[in-house]
Amino acid sequence: MPVVVFRKNGEVYREAVKENTNLVVRAGIRQFPFPHLRYECGMGKCSRCACVVIAGGEHLPPPNWKEKKQLGERLDAGYRLACQLWIQHDIELAQDDPPAAS
Ligand code: FES
Repeated sequence: MPVVVFRKNGEVYREAVKENTNLVVRAGIRQFPFPHLRYECGMGKCSRCACVVIAGGEHLPPPNWKEKKQLGERLDAGYRLACQLWIQHDIELAQDDPPAAS
């Protein structure tokens, strides 16, 4: 089973998940990485679920058109939309909260 390491605001969460797991779907049913994963639409439309891939990105398929549209230049910095990923291999992701709006 793939092991997901999820980093958020200095904390590290780790859990094995079933193959072909979508982390936003899991969070939606209150399983890891709930309650830490930020997401909203689950459909590649809002980019709230954007995460940086720290390790394991080589196993992911290329970004789909929704990720390209939502992430733009952030793709080059290693960002992906968690709601568009079906995890099949070990992966390490980070998602920090955006700075509070001033
Ligand atoms: S949850 Fe909206 S783009 Fe992923």
